[in-house]
Amino acid sequence: MKRSVGALMTGVMAVSLGACATTQDRRVADQWANPVDLGYSEATLVTSQPAEPQWAAPDPEMDRFIDNLMERMTIEEKIGQLTLLTSDLQSTGPTLREGYEADVRAGRVGSIFNAFTADYTTRLQRLAVEGTRLGIPLLFGYDVIHGHRTIFPISLGEAASWDIPAIERAARISATEAAAEGIHWTFSPMVDIARDPRWGRISEGAGEDVYLASQIARARVRGYQGDDLSATDTVLATAKHFVGYGAAQAGRDYHTVDISERTLRDTYLPPFKAAVDAGVATFMTAFNEFDGTPASGSRYLLTDVLRDRWGFDGFVVTDYTSINEMVAHGYSRDLSQAGEQALFAGVDMDMQGAVFMENLKQSVEAGRASREDIDRSVRRILEMKYRLGLFEDPYRYSDQARQEATLYRPDFLEAARDVARRSMVLLRNEGDVLPLAASAGRIALIGPLGDRKADMIGSWAAAGDRETRPVTILEGLQAREGVRVEHVAGASDAFDAEGSREGFAEALALANRSDIIIAAMGERWDMTGEAASRTSLDLPGNQQALLEELVATGKPVVLVLMSGRPNSITWASENVPAILHAWYPGTMGGLAVADVLFGDYNPSGHLPVTFPRNVGQVPIHYDMKNTGRPIELGEPGAKYVSRYLNTPNEPLYRFGYGLSYTDFAYSPPALSADGMGPGGSITATATITNAGEVAGEDVVQLYLRDLVGSVTRPVQELKGFQKIRLQPGESRTVSFTLRPEDLAFTRADMTHGWEPGEFRLWIAPSSGPDASVPVTFTLTE
Ligand code: BGC
Repeated sequence: MKRSVGALMTGVMAVSLGACATTQDRRVADQWANPVDLGYSEATLVTSQPAEPQWAAPDPEMDRFIDNLMERMTIEEKIGQLTLLTSDLQSTGPTLREGYEADVRAGRVGSIFNAFTADYTTRLQRLAVEGTRLGIPLLFGYDVIHGHRTIFPISLGEAASWDIPAIERAARISATEAAAEGIHWTFSPMVDIARDPRWGRISEGAGEDVYLASQIARARVRGYQGDDLSATDTVLATAKHFVGYGAAQAGRDYHTVDISERTLRDTYLPPFKAAVDAGVATFMTAFNEFDGTPASGSRYLLTDVLRDRWGFDGFVVTDYTSINEMVAHGYSRDLSQAGEQALFAGVDMDMQGAVFMENLKQSVEAGRASREDIDRSVRRILEMKYRLGLFEDPYRYSDQARQEATLYRPDFLEAARDVARRSMVLLRNEGDVLPLAASAGRIALIGPLGDRKADMIGSWAAAGDRETRPVTILEGLQAREGVRVEHVAGASDAFDAEGSREGFAEALALANRSDIIIAAMGERWDMTGEAASRTSLDLPGNQQALLEELVATGKPVVLVLMSGRPNSITWASENVPAILHAWYPGTMGGLAVADVLFGDYNPSGHLPVTFPRNVGQVPIHYDMKNTGRPIELGEPGAKYVSRYLNTPNEPLYRFGYGLSYTDFAYSPPALSADGMGPGGSITATATITNAGEVAGEDVVQLYLRDLVGSVTRPVQELKGFQKIRLQPGESRTVSFTLRPEDLAFTRADMTHGWEPGEFRLWIAPSSGPDASVPVTFTLTE
């Protein structure tokens, strides 16, 4: 896999590269002077070596076919294969703009996104297959993020289930539905680590933790791609946005990213590496820069890391117009240069910007872009079309009968309900307000999110129906026999509703004539997702004020929170007896909420992200550093320690936290040995007992702390987890085996590996040094 600096420089010399020939080349040179393993080491019982994905197997027949095809392609046709354009999605259905249709006919476009349904994709495909000189089929991409038609909980919600088989199943169903509507390729999974709840796209990922996110990345890739890309119920997956997008400064979307190389390697790269190991077929570049180079122009990221280090064989697409944006970044002086830089960096396909389409030929003629680079990318894309079986039958994914038989299948809807239940996190349950008794009496469902269909499916539910299909919380409650429920919105989640008391009187009247209040509050669905950053994490509008008045009635209150980010619900955490986080739970969400409220399903979700007390604590995540002045060093209230004057350091809810309707008791962990050395392993066990009265599931989590390192190490790191189900009174001994490689990190000299020393280990139901009694072991040289 290794190439010499010389070989790389030859490529550099062949074209005039402007900014490429400076920082990046130095970086490339440094890389080779100091080769490091950027690989991610797993820490579970099973540590499989990444196998070559099925689709990457050598195929001489395919090579001959593509050689032959490429020999006949003009430069314009080749550049067409590097071009991805959107169709126009309109409320009445998708239609293609005139201009794009002409582009397809002229062979100037190789792939289309935002086009689906068997009919529509067949019509477009015909334009390419019958209307162009070479008849190369189009590839259809789409944002199938947390479901296609049947919508599952938002990705962050799914992550809260910590239920890897359930997450894989959701992706499998999404792929089956999407592929039945002619889609070949999903722009998912989004594997960006996100630690800033101000950033709206935190809702799209798997949360703050490297280990959990890596497990989920693998599961989603497996779910989408299955084990046969040519099957008509699988789609190509995309690991996005490569890389560092979640580190946008101040949580503002598209903002500058400034992270160290070490943080890149230890925090942001691993989930992408996990996706490569799982055989992901495509990568999408990020909008942001890394160390001054926009990701779409970074040869370091797209070639040195992704290709040369990780051996990625699929193709790389940019994010939406992100080549063009290199001009606004101040990295390219014009679009021509941006295109040249992107191609050289390793971009294969230009999403929506038409920069390659409009400039690349001239760049080649002027000697500023190389034909070899174009051929390289064309080949990668044609290979993927070939492996999907499109050259054999370009229409094989667009099948009206399959579409009708597949969308919203009852078993898919049932799965969506099940995953939704698994994703919900019980944050508080004082006095066992929950579960509600079947004879709960008169229920007042109050709040703007009680009966709004559009909100149930959250953002990035692109083909999701927001108007008719989603089951609201009101409908979910009404569907239960014997439930007496009335609903009023009472408050508003619109930002400008703050200060207004409109609706309060009606809500309080309802509250006063009811036996229990369910407050359905949170954020409107489009307050998270892309371009939806906030500077406050409070409940928007006048919801908080109404919530306080509802509690003041003295009736029991259950807050069902719907949102795509951690909110600072500090007041509620002290004053509202029961809080259930439901995220945006999907098409079947209302039924799933009712299942949990009434105890048909015992909540088992745990937070995949830390909940701060207020926005001022951000950034806050469980695996922070100890600092030289940790708060525990001082007496309570001591001044010169790392703390705030007005807020505790402790978050509102820790990463990994989640309650159940039963109680789980954890034994202290036991170790198979006092230590281990190279080639060895150590097994940690703990016995978990269901000490309560109902069956339930818990997420058993293994955390480590490397006490001293050649660079400072986090106070805790998740290294394994298992979700177990126990009957009342039942105990189970859970075991985790660790090897030295599982303790690897980027050391002071930038090599990746472990270091001898002492480690602290916890097996606990959440993060936090006091969540269970730790034990210590030694790693010897
Ligand atoms: C988003 C991507 C998405 C793309 C195509 C962009 O704005 O950042 O995540 O896949 O649009 O819809």
